[in-house]
Amino acid sequence: MTLQDKINNIKSQFADAVKRLSLTKKEVSDIKNQFLGRKGSVAELFNEMKNLPPEDRSHAGKELNILKSELSTEIDNLLHSTADDSTSSPESSIDPTLPGDFIPVGSIHPIEKTIQEIKNIFGAIGFNSVYGPEIDDDYHNFEALNIPHHHPARDMQDTFYVADDVVLRTHTSNTQIHVMEEQQPPLRVIVPGRVYRNEAISVRSYCLFHQIEGLYVSQKVTFAEMKGTLEYFVKSFFGQNVKTRFRPSYFPFTEPSAEVDVSCIFCKGSGCKTCKQTGWLEILGCGMVDPDVFLKVGYDPEKWSGYAFGLGIERMTMLKYGIDDIRLFFNGDVRFLRQFR
Ligand code: PHE
Repeated sequence: MTLQDKINNIKSQFADAVKRLSLTKKEVSDIKNQFLGRKGSVAELFNEMKNLPPEDRSHAGKELNILKSELSTEIDNLLHSTADDSTSSPESSIDPTLPGDFIPVGSIHPIEKTIQEIKNIFGAIGFNSVYGPEIDDDYHNFEALNIPHHHPARDMQDTFYVADDVVLRTHTSNTQIHVMEEQQPPLRVIVPGRVYRNEAISVRSYCLFHQIEGLYVSQKVTFAEMKGTLEYFVKSFFGQNVKTRFRPSYFPFTEPSAEVDVSCIFCKGSGCKTCKQTGWLEILGCGMVDPDVFLKVGYDPEKWSGYAFGLGIERMTMLKYGIDDIRLFFNGDVRFLRQFR
């Protein structure tokens, strides 16, 4: 065997010895002894040098020195990366019998859940979701929607004013105006978002809540189309057995206007505390877009017609899940939120 063969042999024996992961310090220093110790295999080769012809010795010496320093470097690295034996024998470093770390699973907030569900229901019949500003001017929140200055909805009691002419929107209807200013009909959108009202906080009302606005503008749109769409929505959301009822109502920006009731989800219409013995629950407002609103955004009311609707998300969620206090949505109690996992 040549000297080079012997060197290669030692290298591969060394590689074998260190290839196991997580060697302990003690094992590494045993390996060090075996290869680099006074009686180790490298020292043995140095000993054999005296048997070589003198002219070969200097070359062999160089080769052996290289081998020695390669192995020392590796050993040093291993000693550095190896923890103390006391904490890290392979047996003690991993204990597969320990229970895993508990990572709590979060849940989607019930309001967000309802928004997603309603988006899906309307998305399936071609309504896109768009968003509008929560801080808006008087014009978009009131004026353009036919809500004149003396209208009680503007009362300081109800509206949060940011400045003289700037409000926290009191409904998502402001976005009807923004959408129509920016796009030409036909259009078919829903607008989920937060709205704000300066009301006393109670089980039934909070200073902020969420609405979804709907707006459909096309040619020769009928009230019957609106009814059909809203009935489809109510049945998709509450179940096929729920009945709907359209009651005449009034909104400044729709004409004619209606409110939609559903047969009481709790007593199935026979009368209970929630429906105040009427058998019906009011869930949304709607109507045909008033021609004056079209004029404000520059649409020709002779050519275009449409309907709009608005519903409260908290209310829909409370009815769907039987929740009796609106404040639960806002106080972040995980015992409440966990139920929606
Ligand atoms: N904006 C009205 C409200 O907040 C609801 C509504 C929207 C009514 C669209 C009719 C049409 O009460």
